[in-house]
Amino acid sequence: MAYNFETVGKRYHTGSRKWNELLASGVREDEDIIPFSVADMEFETAPEIVTAIKEEVEHYVLGYANPTQEYLDTVCRWMRERHGWDARPEWILPEHGIVDAFFNAVKIFTQPGEGVMLMTPVYYPMYRAVNDNSRVLVDCPLVYKGDRYEIDFADFERKAADENTKLLILCSPHNPIGRVWRRDELEHIAEICLKHHVLVLSDEIHFDLVMPGHRHIVYASLSEEAANNCIVCTAPSKTFNLAGLQTSNIFVPNPALREQYMAGLKRGNPNPKCNILGYRACEAAYKHSAPWLEQAIRVIDTNRKLVADFMAREFPQVQVIDLEATYLLWMNWRGLGLDSRELERINHQEARLFFDEGYIFGAQGDGFERWNLACPTRYIREALERMKTAYKKYVK
Ligand SMILES: Cc1ncc(COP(=O)(O)O)c(C=O)c1O
Repeated sequence: MAYNFETVGKRYHTGSRKWNELLASGVREDEDIIPFSVADMEFETAPEIVTAIKEEVEHYVLGYANPTQEYLDTVCRWMRERHGWDARPEWILPEHGIVDAFFNAVKIFTQPGEGVMLMTPVYYPMYRAVNDNSRVLVDCPLVYKGDRYEIDFADFERKAADENTKLLILCSPHNPIGRVWRRDELEHIAEICLKHHVLVLSDEIHFDLVMPGHRHIVYASLSEEAANNCIVCTAPSKTFNLAGLQTSNIFVPNPALREQYMAGLKRGNPNPKCNILGYRACEAAYKHSAPWLEQAIRVIDTNRKLVADFMAREFPQVQVIDLEATYLLWMNWRGLGLDSRELERINHQEARLFFDEGYIFGAQGDGFERWNLACPTRYIREALERMKTAYKKYVK
């Protein structure tokens, strides 16, 4: 089936945060531009998901709902068939979102004053999960190698070995740098974390959005020891653009950790549960929408290539980081010699380009831009033309 990835409606006045920010930046509704910031997609929802939601609304009562056995089995089948991971239905705990999950895990598995490791630059709410809960940020900066990032394992182990360090929030694949961690890298992380008793929360929300030639490895599939020392956070929300349905699947293979997690969840809410339409949408997506996902990845990869080729040709000063996964392209614009606030101003006011500014991902992101590529290709082409025109006077 050929799906529509070419046209999409504007989301003004729908409550979309991304589009509200666009309006707040002074964009007029009659300008034919779209935002390239917050990580949701400007693609129509897969029709199989729309059908499932319609059927639910038309035929059933929208009361309280727990996941059905069919739902749990379907989620596990997705893990097995797509990711080669044999997960069990009873490992799954409900969370509305992955941000909720890592905020909760910080509160449940660490105490105020204890250390939480982040591999930076990283998805900005992870800093808040640490700082807003009075935990200590254990910063493990990734090493920037020009077109990709690597882990400094000596530094990582030194920080994990500190007795105060209790938790690693791993972003896998990593947002914003677009890395898919290789098996040897994940095994090294697991070895260090096991040796130094650091629990691992692996945020794998981008796990299905892997570019051709790369393969995601679920952290818990590394070994039984790794599985028993981790929480794996998954969701259909990035894969199928269902974030608004607030349904995530948190896997905790170790029964003692699972009990501790569930008890912690229940302290905040005696009946943790997700959204009935979210359950139906996730089930339909995992059962029927893999072909939609394959096509979405092809469009994202086409958009990636367009931007990378354009930058290499027109703006060799801008370094495009290899995109191995996610639809979020990380680019180093420092070579243009402009201050990051000036970059933001030119992009907004002159080029009418609305990215996520790199500095929100931590100090190492200053002078970088994150470009959300999940949109019809024509918007990417037009954006590149606007960039070319706007930057003429700034580039020698
Ligand atoms: C790494 C990562 N984790 C979590 C989220 C958001 O998760 P949720 O909407 O399920 O809270 C995002 C969204 O961009 C993300 O990139």
